[in-house]
Amino acid sequence: MAEQKSIHGLWRSRWLFILAATGSAVGLGNIWKFPYITGENGGGAFVLVYLACICVIGIPVMIAEVTLGRLGRQSPINTMHALVKDQNAAKFWGGIGWMGAVSGFLILSFYSVIAGWSLAYIFRMAGGAFDGATAQSVGTIFGDLLGNPEALLGWHTIFMVLTIGIVARGVNKGLERSISILMPLLFLILVVLLGYSMSTEGFGAAFNFLFSFDFSKITAESIVVALGHAFFTLSLGMGAIMAYGAYMPKSASVGKTVLTVAFLDTLIALVAGLVIFPIVFSNGLEAGAGPGLLFQTLPLAFSQMPAGTVFGTLFFLLVAFAALSSAISLGEPVVAWAVESKGMSRVAAATWIGIVIWLLGVGTILSFNLWADFKIFGRTIFDNLDFLTANILLPLGGLLIAIFVGWVMHKQDVADEVKMESPFMYNVWRFLVKFVAPVAVAIVLINGLI
Ligand code: PFF
Repeated sequence: MAEQKSIHGLWRSRWLFILAATGSAVGLGNIWKFPYITGENGGGAFVLVYLACICVIGIPVMIAEVTLGRLGRQSPINTMHALVKDQNAAKFWGGIGWMGAVSGFLILSFYSVIAGWSLAYIFRMAGGAFDGATAQSVGTIFGDLLGNPEALLGWHTIFMVLTIGIVARGVNKGLERSISILMPLLFLILVVLLGYSMSTEGFGAAFNFLFSFDFSKITAESIVVALGHAFFTLSLGMGAIMAYGAYMPKSASVGKTVLTVAFLDTLIALVAGLVIFPIVFSNGLEAGAGPGLLFQTLPLAFSQMPAGTVFGTLFFLLVAFAALSSAISLGEPVVAWAVESKGMSRVAAATWIGIVIWLLGVGTILSFNLWADFKIFGRTIFDNLDFLTANILLPLGGLLIAIFVGWVMHKQDVADEVKMESPFMYNVWRFLVKFVAPVAVAIVLINGLI
């Protein structure tokens, strides 16, 4: 395909792409979701399956997705259209872009609500709500927040406004600069917390819980969740990484860049687990506590440590920023499409799309309180959105991307764009994308659905 130009701008360097993609990857998935689903799925065995999914499926699919984006240099929907034409492929493959757009809407609608919890906690922490906290009082504070739909709506609204505000300003202004400050800060705070967790008596138990691989604990359900989470945490299968790839300079090596992003993302998830579980075990909390895990363990830890109020406030601030840098990447693909194809200004596109997503978020808010008993397939609205996106749509998107790059596109076009220095590594990647990823994802998806 002839060299394309992005009308939205480019990242100023390979490192800025790494930071932006890491900003997209590192978010609530790492700090909030990974620890609690690990708790729900029994610990070590789950972690092992998750790591395998990242290496064997996640990384190869990420390379494929970035490659598509950089070839097309447009929003995922238009990139896929252009590639379908250029490669003489069946129209069907254009559906990858559209399906991603739907996934993005659904994910952002609940993501923003949870990110709103972290906003609320910044103020609870700073206001001293957790001074002298006990396991019980943190539970009550969390329960009160979830039971209050107006409060949740308020925080969700603020978070959506922030997200839209940034997407509306475009790729270069603000986003690049804020991410390059916030990501290292987040990591620093996590390391400080890790130091604290290591000093608690529960650290050994937590380490064993996370890294002793008891294979008898692996179930079909936990494999579906681990695979789904590999896609979710790396922001794969819905076009976020494709959109970011569209702004990646030509000179950067896709393979090395993706490896760096995946490494950082995994590291941060594991560190988050090593921060949270020692606190769980030291305080006799429940590892399988579900979505509230982060919001109940950490306030307890902060209430016990010196200068805990300061660290606690800072921590939830950074969680909110990590969520924001991911939320932006959820909004960007569709906004970029509306700018390209509907002739809208960025501001108008971001506003309209944001309003629709904001409205969808109300379903998630109510599923924690007024509609908590309203269940479809035995799940609340929030649980259904989470399950549908992470466990079905993202893996399905990833599967189609792998097949498109591995089987449908001309071999030479792919090779020219991926351009790995080592032919051996290139062949490994090609094998994983062509055979391993599609087969593994298909098996897991079919099993999961049955
Ligand atoms: N990767 C983000 C996280 O782990 O929190 C969530 C996410 C962002 C998922 C962007 C999908 C996506 F396209």
